[in-house]
Amino acid sequence: MGADSGTQVTSAATEEPSRREFIHIFGATIAGAAGVGALVPLIDQMNPDASVRALSTKEVDLSAVEPGQAIKVMWQGKPVFIRRRTAEEIKMAEEVSVGDLKDAKARNANLPDDTPATDDNRITGGDAAKHPEWLILVGVCTHLGCIPLGTAQGEVRGDYQGWFCPCHGSHYDLAGRIRKGPAPENLPVPPYTFLSDTSIRIG
Ligand code: FES
Repeated sequence: MGADSGTQVTSAATEEPSRREFIHIFGATIAGAAGVGALVPLIDQMNPDASVRALSTKEVDLSAVEPGQAIKVMWQGKPVFIRRRTAEEIKMAEEVSVGDLKDAKARNANLPDDTPATDDNRITGGDAAKHPEWLILVGVCTHLGCIPLGTAQGEVRGDYQGWFCPCHGSHYDLAGRIRKGPAPENLPVPPYTFLSDTSIRIG
């Protein structure tokens, strides 16, 4: 009897953890499945499909832009100015000393943050190739976000022949650098790459 009781006690003691283990394993399996279920959309979000990537970049054909002209395109909801500079305009921009600039940083997404705002550093794209004719800028005034004038034919270009923001009178030069007025920074250079001599991809 004593031995039987001992056996029964031992049996009950071994069955009890088994049920707990089952519940634990079952619970862990459900939680694991839920975790995997939650992970799938998370991974999906981390791998945007081609259509999303296409929205974040923009290819622009430059073949119709003549020297001295500029165009405006939209990229990620923002205007981007693209100016084809003449040889004289390039020379004027290159002659400006960084020490004379209000903002000495290149503000070029293709270069490190502390790069100086030489003309050379303002026309460098993501492939590090130099295309001095082509100046590519995000066309949003760095003061309070107005869109500066100077891209369309006949628009006022300000005292430095680049762009003029009529909201509070900021003047940008032929490399899009702030030279006069309340704007604190140069117009930013977006990430871009030349795909050929006459086409670029922004973004
Ligand atoms: S927003 Fe351009 S000068 Fe104020």
